[in-house]
Amino acid sequence: MIKVLSVASECVPFIKTGGLADVAGALPAALSEQGVDMRVLLPGYPAVLAALGASHTVLEDGALFGGPAQLLAGEAEGIKLYVLEAEHLYERSGTPYLGPEGRDWADNPQRFAALSWVAARLGAEGAEDWRPDLVHAHDWQGAFAPYYLKRHFDSAVPSVLTIHNVAFHGMASAALLTDLRLDPADFTPEGFEFYGSINALKAGILFADKITTVSPTYSKELTRPEFGAGLDGVIRARGTDLSGILNGIDTNAWDPAHDDALAEHYASYRHVKKKQANTEALRAEFGLPPADGPLCVVVSRLTEQKGLDLLLEALPALIENGGQLALLGSGDAALELAYREAAATEPNVAVYIGYNEAVSHRVIAGGDAIIVPSRFEPCGLTQLYGLRYGTIPLVALTGGLADTVIPASPAALSAGVATGIQVFPLTADALRQSLIDLCALFRRPDDWAALRRNAMDQAVGWERSAAAYTHLYGELVPS
Ligand code: ADP
Ligand code: GLC
Repeated sequence: MIKVLSVASECVPFIKTGGLADVAGALPAALSEQGVDMRVLLPGYPAVLAALGASHTVLEDGALFGGPAQLLAGEAEGIKLYVLEAEHLYERSGTPYLGPEGRDWADNPQRFAALSWVAARLGAEGAEDWRPDLVHAHDWQGAFAPYYLKRHFDSAVPSVLTIHNVAFHGMASAALLTDLRLDPADFTPEGFEFYGSINALKAGILFADKITTVSPTYSKELTRPEFGAGLDGVIRARGTDLSGILNGIDTNAWDPAHDDALAEHYASYRHVKKKQANTEALRAEFGLPPADGPLCVVVSRLTEQKGLDLLLEALPALIENGGQLALLGSGDAALELAYREAAATEPNVAVYIGYNEAVSHRVIAGGDAIIVPSRFEPCGLTQLYGLRYGTIPLVALTGGLADTVIPASPAALSAGVATGIQVFPLTADALRQSLIDLCALFRRPDDWAALRRNAMDQAVGWERSAAAYTHLYGELVPS
């Protein structure tokens, strides 16, 4: 059995700001079916410590990046956890990355370098009777682990870095080189230096034995300047060490036939015919009037990446064609305000500004279509929820969105394989046209029903991707 230490800054069901948490939380169970023993190392945020049941200390460090720390081992919600308890780094309110005023914590470089350090130490030395065969780091927050393993611990333990979003580099001032336990000799353009600063993700890209990202299309996009966020050259240089493994979703948590979040007035369903009750329930919950056209939904962070400014521009076309919008999201203040204003002036638009897991299930279950017009999308999970719930995805042709949705061209419709609608190029005009197409398709009941059936038949679980990760680990760990 291969033993893998996964190191991440968030993990469902303990702490989540985005899809990274879903993936980190789903991998251990998915991989255990493949014979992989995965344990997850997380920072000891208050929410994580509270969720951790009985635990015991397996490592101690009197001076971990500015204070004492201990590594606790335990289990919660079926996941074997290592929790890094370090009051000076993680015992705070706010999100994993931001203080209560919405600004990055100034010591984020130290907070996640510490996490990566402990991952590397655990990889190199083990604790008690468990030493991983491989360390799997996620995003910049874990990206120094491959570096520390090789440079500080001189360890042969292999590592994998998964890039969930190349836009986040984990930049730090060069003045922190010593504090972050980095070798100044590596502070070069060939090393982790990036325009005069330290770049954690670059260190991971250079030092991990293999790099993965969360969809095949994004793995190709990453090597191009338009998508590589300045790291495309370094990524290109890794050649075939980079691969794309598509995310799955937790098909138990996201199951239209058994969904506990579908409270009163909603109904679980195996067949899309029963979905209409949920659409009515969602209209009622969001205060939307009855309508004949499609109820479009969005569940998203409201940021530049997600392209929802374009949806605002295209919205009148949807409404004029009989459609409606129910949006659940939070993020940029300007976008939150713009959507609130749209809802205040247009009865067929309703928004819930905030983060709410249960509401997200009802929105997905009740929507006729889910709109994901991302400028880039490494994988994207909400279009997968949409497929599973027969909520037709309208997506941009990028990253994982391109890999998971088969557009409803006449040929795909007649071949019975279409699952959604794609918008390309991603402009407000093209999105407008796609929304008009969506409304027209919705008015062709047979085509729409076929689309829904095809969508619900898609395999969106973890099986195939868990096998791909297991294969990758096997290439690095001699059996
Ligand atoms: P990203 O990680 O870039 O935000 P993903 O589509 O991979 O995008 O994952 C987003 C995850 O966060 C999904 O599980 C989605 O349902 C959830 N989510 C996003 N916004 C909200 C919200 N306002 N309320 C509840 N869940 C949300
Ligand atoms: C990132 C990406 C998203 C992906 C998620 C999980 O947050 O933005 O596309 O689905 O990571 O891998």
